[in-house]
Formats: sequence, structure tokens, C-alpha cells
Amino acid sequence: MKAIRIHEFGEPNVLKYEDIPESQPGPGEVRIKVIAAGVNPVDWKIRSGYMELPLPMTMGSDIAGVVDVAGQGVESFQPEDEVFGKASPGEGGYAEYTVVNSSQIAQKPKSIGFIESAAIPTAGLAAWQSLFDIAGLERGQTVLIHGAAGGVGSFAVQFAKWKGAYVIGTASSKNAEFLKNIGCDEVIDYRNQQFEDIVGNLDVVLDTIGGDTLEKSWSVLKPGGFLVTTVASIPEEKPQKYGVRAERLMTQANGKELAQIAAIIDENKIRPIITTVLPLADAQKAHEMSESGHTRGKIVLRVAEDPK
Ligand SMILES: NC(=O)c1ccc[n+]([C@@H]2O[C@H](COP(=O)([O-])OP(=O)(O)OC[C@H]3O[C@@H](n4cnc5c(N)ncnc54)[C@H](OP(=O)(O)O)[C@@H]3O)[C@@H](O)[C@H]2O)c1
Repeated sequence: MKAIRIHEFGEPNVLKYEDIPESQPGPGEVRIKVIAAGVNPVDWKIRSGYMELPLPMTMGSDIAGVVDVAGQGVESFQPEDEVFGKASPGEGGYAEYTVVNSSQIAQKPKSIGFIESAAIPTAGLAAWQSLFDIAGLERGQTVLIHGAAGGVGSFAVQFAKWKGAYVIGTASSKNAEFLKNIGCDEVIDYRNQQFEDIVGNLDVVLDTIGGDTLEKSWSVLKPGGFLVTTVASIPEEKPQKYGVRAERLMTQANGKELAQIAAIIDENKIRPIITTVLPLADAQKAHEMSESGHTRGKIVLRVAEDPK
């Protein structure tokens, strides 16, 4: 099968389009014929060597496709099922076939295609777990989402709105109208405005940017408010100093939550935002785009034609 692999860490040109053997699913695992693979910043971070992982490795964290073989003991999925989910570390999703634990996948939303479904797993779960599992966002609360136009942010804005929260997002001005269309009540242009002078007394901040943005976010929370960051360690003294709670997200692969997200999509309440679709062989270009830090929504690689 074809796969995008790395044999060394480095720039996008270390991504190689290669032929490798397909893996066999073990007990509890399924093999999936991949139709589309989502691209996430963690992919280029891994490629660059931010994490010491064994090489060579197949890249890619997110997939949507069709179950090809169900391993021993798998009862919830069978061949021909249309599924989506997180790829297994090392196994990778930028490939024509991938093997995952069946707990990591769910039936794909019926109302959208494989390309849209492949955009969901990492970014959708990151947004869901940050807002609901960690911060416990509730109806009527106010949430500030930094990086609202990005992969995680564009899901977070829609989930928060669906929950009934008042949603404020930060983005550059070119994304203001887009963000209002997907559910932001207010958009702050981070290039020309200081969010810490505009908002305060917030219930939840979701930070997907880090650095100064994280540093300036402590003061805009109400006492007892919750800060979740997807990108940085929490400085030990800050939560106590500001009387707030804080946690760094580590997204968990979770098929049950993906099924919940699929149900909301099929109710037409939210939709994945995709701005770029490229063929699998163009993974280098996809990484260059993702690394720019200014893509709207998601980039997805088309691995095979939709079987329908
Ligand atoms: N810990 C975890 O488990 C986990 C899970 C998922 C993601 N993450 C991390 O979370 C981060 C965000 O992921 P992502 O997929 O959302 O990335 P992304 O799609 O690449 O984010 C791009 C977006 O960031 C916006 N942006 C850039 N600088 C900004 C700033 N200073 N203020 C506000 N918005 C800004 C851009 O908007 P403009 O074009 O308008 O500037 C763009 O829309 C990444 O670092 C990723 O690795 C971590």
C-alpha cells in the first residue's frame, strides 16, 4: 500500500510517499481502508522531532474510511462499516490502510462524506474534551476561545454555541464574519485589539495559542473560572494567584465521544470546516500550510475515491 512515512525528523521534505506492507489487525483491532486523512499541527510537530518517537513511522492522526477486516473479539464493527477516528500512534493515518483499536473509532456521520469526517477526530475531540470534560461548560456561561478560526477553535465555537453558551472568539479580522456565521457572539481581532481590555469575568477560556495569549488570559476569568490550554504547561502559581482552575488538555482517543459528535452533526447542529483538500501524495504541501499557523478550519488529504 501507499503511505506517507518519515525515516528522520526534519523539514516537510522528510515526508516520503512509499510502498509498505499492510498491517494485520490483532484482537480488539480493525483494519480500515482509509478514504481520507485529517491533517493536524501535531503531525508537523512530530515530523519536526518535537517528540522522540521510533522511526521509521507512518504519519497522520485522523482517518475516515471503511472497515476492511475486524480482528478477533470486535463486535461493534464489521467489514463495510463506514467509520472515522484517531489513528494509532506509530501506525499512522496517511496511508491506504491503517489498523486501530476499535475503541478509537465510531460510525461516521451519515449526513457528511469521508473528507468531512476525517476532519473531526483530533480537533473535534480536543474541543469537546476541553469545553465539556475538563471545563464543564454549561448553558448560559460565557467562553472565550483563542484561535477560534483554527481546527480546534472552529469546532469549539460550534460546540459552545450548541451548548447554549455566550461565545467570544479571537482571530484576525479576515475571519470575523466567518466566525459570526458559525456561532461567535463576539469576535476580537487579536492583531488590533487587546482582548484583556475588552472582556472579563468569564467562566471559561480555551487557549489554543499559548505564549502571551495564555499569559493575558488569567485576568479575564471570574473567580472559580476555568482555563484550558491545548498548547502549554500551566505555571504552578497562576491558578491559585487568580483563584481559578486550569488544566492542559491531552486529547484522548474516544469512540463514544466521536459517536456523540457524529449524532450532533447528523442533527445538522454543527459542521466540520474544511478549507483545503489535497491528494495523499501532497502531504508536504499540507504540512507547509498547517505550519503557517493561519489556516481556517481543517486541511484533509484525499487517500482514495469515495466508494459510493
Ligand atoms: N493537547 C492536545 O491534545 C491538542 C489537541 C489538538 C490541538 N492541539 C494544539 O492546539 C493548537 C491549535 O490546533 P489547531 O488544530 O486549532 O491549529 P490550527 O488549525 O493550525 O490553528 C490556526 C488558527 O490559529 C489562528 N491564530 C494564529 N495566531 C493567533 C492568535 N495570536 N490569536 C488568535 N488566533 C490565532 C489563526 O487565525 P488567523 O488566521 O485569523 O490568525 C488560524 O485560524 C496547535 O498547537 C495544536 O498542536 C493540542
